[in-house]
Amino acid sequence: MIRAVYPGSFDPCTNGHIYIAERSAALFDEVVFAILHNPQKVPTFTIQEREAMAREALSHLPNVKILSFEGLLVDFMRKQQSKIILRGLRALSDFEYEFQLAQMNRQLASEIETLFIATDARYSYLSSRSIKEVFRFGGSVQKLVPPGVYRRLREKFPLPEEDFTEFL
Ligand code: PNS
Repeated sequence: MIRAVYPGSFDPCTNGHIYIAERSAALFDEVVFAILHNPQKVPTFTIQEREAMAREALSHLPNVKILSFEGLLVDFMRKQQSKIILRGLRALSDFEYEFQLAQMNRQLASEIETLFIATDARYSYLSSRSIKEVFRFGGSVQKLVPPGVYRRLREKFPLPEEDFTEFL
């Protein structure tokens, strides 16, 4: 049984992340979609919200398990008894950061390998940060995120025409 771990902040997950999870699920017996809970940072979505969004978006993949982790990824990998870290690669600009992460993790735990999955061209420009920014300025992101993420974005950042609180 080969278990791989797909870690990230997923704040929130996008269709690009779901695509990587789908590709991974087809390759490995089990994939752990591992959401980083970093108490030192204030994310846009709480860890519970990020887990709920991922759970909804990945419910069609029975071999994908959603978990959160704190601390070092390599410690989590060992707890999960997995030796494969999966990361998605969009453009060449991702490479430097990803290479640094992979090298650091190898230095910490040489038995663990990082594997990269190229994203689909449809998602090569997508990031959680750009989704939030575009949405907050009124741009359309509905086709770029899972339905549950879109719903929560609308709840968290009501668009001006949906925000009637100032009239109450
Ligand atoms: O989606 P992200 O923010 O690019 O994911 C980054 C993540 C969560 C994979 C990375 O920050 C991580 O593994 N953090 C846990 C702490 C850790 O192990 N750091 C050592 C590698 S620099």
